[in-house]
Amino acid sequence: MGDSRPVLVSGVKPTGDLHIGNYFGAMRQFVELTKEGKYKPFIFVADYHALNTMQDAEEMRKRTREVVMAYIAVGLDPKDVVLFKQSDVPAHTELGWIFDTITTMPYLMRAHAFKDAEAKNKEINVGTFNYPMLMAADILLYDAAIVPVGADQKQHIEIARDTAEKFNRVFKTDVFTLPEPHIMPEVAVVPGTDGQKMSKSYGNVIPLFASREELAKAVMSIVTDSSGERPENVYRIHRLFRSEVNLDALYEEHKGNYKGLKEMLIDDLDRYLAPMRTKYEELKGDSSIVDDLLESGKREARAVSEAKMEQVRKAIGVA
Ligand code: ADP
Ligand code: TRP
Repeated sequence: MGDSRPVLVSGVKPTGDLHIGNYFGAMRQFVELTKEGKYKPFIFVADYHALNTMQDAEEMRKRTREVVMAYIAVGLDPKDVVLFKQSDVPAHTELGWIFDTITTMPYLMRAHAFKDAEAKNKEINVGTFNYPMLMAADILLYDAAIVPVGADQKQHIEIARDTAEKFNRVFKTDVFTLPEPHIMPEVAVVPGTDGQKMSKSYGNVIPLFASREELAKAVMSIVTDSSGERPENVYRIHRLFRSEVNLDALYEEHKGNYKGLKEMLIDDLDRYLAPMRTKYEELKGDSSIVDDLLESGKREARAVSEAKMEQVRKAIGVA
């Protein structure tokens, strides 16, 4: 109460093992931006978004807890952050419906994520089509000023802005605040082991909580192109851990020694990730921490979002 800081909102879907692309592209920003204390952060697990592609109850339960543990293991301080599950806060789906009614099909058909999904499978589900409306609700319910995400989510934030404007215009109100995306240019797209964007759906990831052996396996699988001066795909991942000057000198010194450079990358990765891995393993051993966190996050997120829904219901005339 009485907290006048600008709000930060973001979420991650519990759909697979988190990878260093998720960390550098999104989660590290959550930690850095919240550490400064400038924002009031609401960070959640986007389980209802995940339901579009993951329809297995056991897996949903397991992956959801993994994301919560990951948030803490990467350094979010649960004292400073409202951490919750999207499905624990009914206002998200309620507001998502209201947004469906003011949004046109042709507008949503222009979304990249929908076009990509449709190109792969014509039998696309309605939830995938509506995805940006639920995401707009996630963001607008809390009056988010900024939304830290990787570059692939930029259009979704633009849709949330459009939706806020449209709602305010249609219902002649100023209920919703326009959010800004927060995208770090240098890590907007973290490359995978094949040089394309790192993504669990491409099978090219370096997992965030992997053992040293698993890290080594992933690094050794990085595709190297022997025609260039240096192994670009190794270099671009290595760049996440060292300055350009330092790395250029290293790559010059070990020119042509791709195996040696990969081994150095394994060392750097392992050194950087080890403390997070240790914390993650600790949390796995005590399930009550996750339960307690989700319980208090649910209470706070419900209170804030319900207050916003009262304004929304008045604005649309159902209250
Ligand atoms: P994936 O592409 O592996 O399915 P998600 O879509 O669940 O990952 O992404 C979760 C968050 O991580 C989003 O904010 C997204 O922008 C970010 N992210 C995912 N992959 C990358 C990447 N390769 N580079 C930068 N950010 C990424
Ligand atoms: N769509 C995001 C992703 O695929 C996850 C997400 C859902 C999200 N709702 C959000 C991110 C609200 C930021 C804000 O990664």
